[in-house]
Amino acid sequence: MKKIDVLVTGGAGYIGSHAVVELYNSGYRPIIVDNFSNSSIKNIEGIEQIINNKVVFHEFDCTDEDQMNELFKIESNIEAVIHFAAFKAVEESVREPKKYYCNNIGSLEVLLKTMKRYKVNNIIFSSSCTVYGSPDILPVSELAPFKKAESPYGETKQLCEKLIDKSDINSISLRYFNPVGSHETCLIGDCSADKPNNLVPIICEVASGKRDSMQIFGNDYNTIDGTCVRDYIHVVDLAKAHVAALNHILNSKKIKTAYNIGVGKGVSVQEVVDSFEQINDIKISYKIGPRRAGDVEEIYSDNSKINKELKWFPIMSFGSALKTAWIWEKNK
Ligand code: NAD
Ligand code: WQD
Repeated sequence: MKKIDVLVTGGAGYIGSHAVVELYNSGYRPIIVDNFSNSSIKNIEGIEQIINNKVVFHEFDCTDEDQMNELFKIESNIEAVIHFAAFKAVEESVREPKKYYCNNIGSLEVLLKTMKRYKVNNIIFSSSCTVYGSPDILPVSELAPFKKAESPYGETKQLCEKLIDKSDINSISLRYFNPVGSHETCLIGDCSADKPNNLVPIICEVASGKRDSMQIFGNDYNTIDGTCVRDYIHVVDLAKAHVAALNHILNSKKIKTAYNIGVGKGVSVQEVVDSFEQINDIKISYKIGPRRAGDVEEIYSDNSKINKELKWFPIMSFGSALKTAWIWEKNK
């Protein structure tokens, strides 16, 4: 049977590469488009090793209308797009907001225009729990309002969701909570050239000696142990949510919706550090530092909507996320 073509923008990135593997394993033909602005050919090689096959890949920039036109001409059977391509460093977005507006909103605008021209009617969008800001009710459900964004990055995610809502194509926005870990082979992962900003990659750098020490940003929050609480989702579970969303969108006549992708359970920063030490049998040097500006005290997902409607459930353990994160750090 002929495979269904799915365009995966940002498919050489951290989450995109994991999604490509799961799409391929589920019988789809993923077509990667990536400009390598925040990734490496290492992830393409890793994907090919995992699937034991070549993967279709185009080095184009999603903000370039001519290049995207060319892509849709070459790949004329695309039935759906999964749009990962974006910049994601929150701190950088505060320093260089224009870079984020241009790439994150610009790429979506070009994509929507090109999809319309080539009559591709289905998009799955990489959104984020950052759209909720600091929610009033926990666990936070998809019905919670968008609060004032904490950063230009967060603003781009809110604006992109609104742009997609206004368009006349089928859409599913997936609001990721905190992705962690790597594929069990540890052949793909986060290839970003910059210093990491996220908790688990920072812990890994302390473990490897790349950093001498780290700080836990604040232990005076109103939480279980005073440190901030987040919902850490294994990247393989997250990748599988894209397959579930794709199956759903391709079987729906008209659809515009959003789903939270999280475990539904809060874990504190202190618990993450302690679990990493225990699982990987390694000591992490850290100090308690001041609060980080803009941090949300506590956020975790209500994932019942996607459980019920798409039968997606997270199954991977937090321990395996911390183990594979550490192996990826050592291998990269
Ligand atoms: P990533 O940086 O590893 O992947 C993004 C990929 O897109 C990279 O390979 C990069 O080279 C590519 N890219 C960027 N701009 C492009 C452009 N104009 N044209 C072509 N390729 C381009 O990031 P990730 O962690 O895999 O995140 C993927 C998506 O998920 C992003 O939209 C991000 O905002 C979103 N998200 C990430 C997290 C997280 O914590 N990692 C959480 C919530 C949402
Ligand atoms: C997690 C917790 C920190 C580093 C960001 C984005 C969000 C989404 C996910 C993309 C916080 C604490 C961290 C350190 C620490 N991304 N921490 N010491 O802040 O939940 O969200 O990534 O959409 O939009 O804002 O993730 O990994 O940065 O932090 O104590 O050295 O770890 O304060 O409580 P966050 P994070």
